[in-house]
Amino acid sequence: MLAPSLSVSRSLLPSTRALLSTRALSSASPDLVVSIKKAYPDEPENPASIAILTMSRPAARNALGTQMLGEFCVALESLPTNPDLRAVILQSDVERVFCAGADLKERRTMSQMEAGMFVSKLRNSFTALANLPLPVIASIEGAALGGGLEIAMGADIRVAGANAVFGLPETSLAIIPGAGGTQRLPRLIGESRAKELIFTGRRVNAEDAAGYGIVSHCVPAGTALEKSMEIAREIARNGPIGVRCAKTAVNVGMQGDITSGMEVERACYAQTIPTSDRMEGLNAFREKRKPVYKGE
Ligand code: COA
Repeated sequence: MLAPSLSVSRSLLPSTRALLSTRALSSASPDLVVSIKKAYPDEPENPASIAILTMSRPAARNALGTQMLGEFCVALESLPTNPDLRAVILQSDVERVFCAGADLKERRTMSQMEAGMFVSKLRNSFTALANLPLPVIASIEGAALGGGLEIAMGADIRVAGANAVFGLPETSLAIIPGAGGTQRLPRLIGESRAKELIFTGRRVNAEDAAGYGIVSHCVPAGTALEKSMEIAREIARNGPIGVRCAKTAVNVGMQGDITSGMEVERACYAQTIPTSDRMEGLNAFREKRKPVYKGE
């Protein structure tokens, strides 16, 4: 039962083609821009990189419509094929808004069946984000509402600028959070608090969100990306297979009881044992130098 969900690619395919095609697929004005940054620009020989996914649909405040969701899915499929990637940051370049949730104007044009199918696609896409075999950091400035909070909850780590606002306002639209919100929020902050936020649709500021545990860091407004990059660089120093296996171990293990979780941990650890990175870590320790991990 564990085998398929625990498989973590050991040899990372050397291909950036898929990333390029992500850009190519985007229309003249893409809603999502993928950029790759070197993690350590002052170390030219170090290929470790960080992908930055930038939501860029200002006219609709980054509302998730068919086009943006399509671009997001293509990006998610292509990212793991880049062997140099160590982490992904999801951010917005729209002033005062991370993401305004589902596109309510587009929704109005949908039949009941289309609405149900689109919400399922949103849900599956955010689950694909949560399962991406790379650490994902949501860098949040401004409003993260409805699907905007749900996409952020698909990330592994959330960093908020002090001006961020969070909420699941769906019940005020006579629906429910349908892209993971009713499941991820209670797991993140506990059932009672999650129910209160979902039943009332109340918005909370970044400081309260940090207190609740919705975000891990509340930083001065405008510095969420800087903090996210700092965390991504810390991650990028470590063995990429180890990091990927650790994410799988936590994700899969958290879905069951602790005894099954220990079995998940064993299976994930086993995948790191035959890697050359593991020996590199041990050799670097003996030789008192920094390890150079290759993801092999
Ligand atoms: N879907 C579609 N369009 C949206 C949208 C959404 N979720 N959120 C905002 N927009 C559109 C507005 O309709 C407006 O379009 P218009 O210029 O054609 O009138 C434009 O984006 C700007 O919105 P505005 O409210 O003026 O921007 P703002 O910067 O003052 O506020 C928000 C930003 C995100 C706080 C606010 O737009 C908002 O609360 N949006 C709704 C969020 C929501 O309820 N999401 C849950 C969906 S289930």
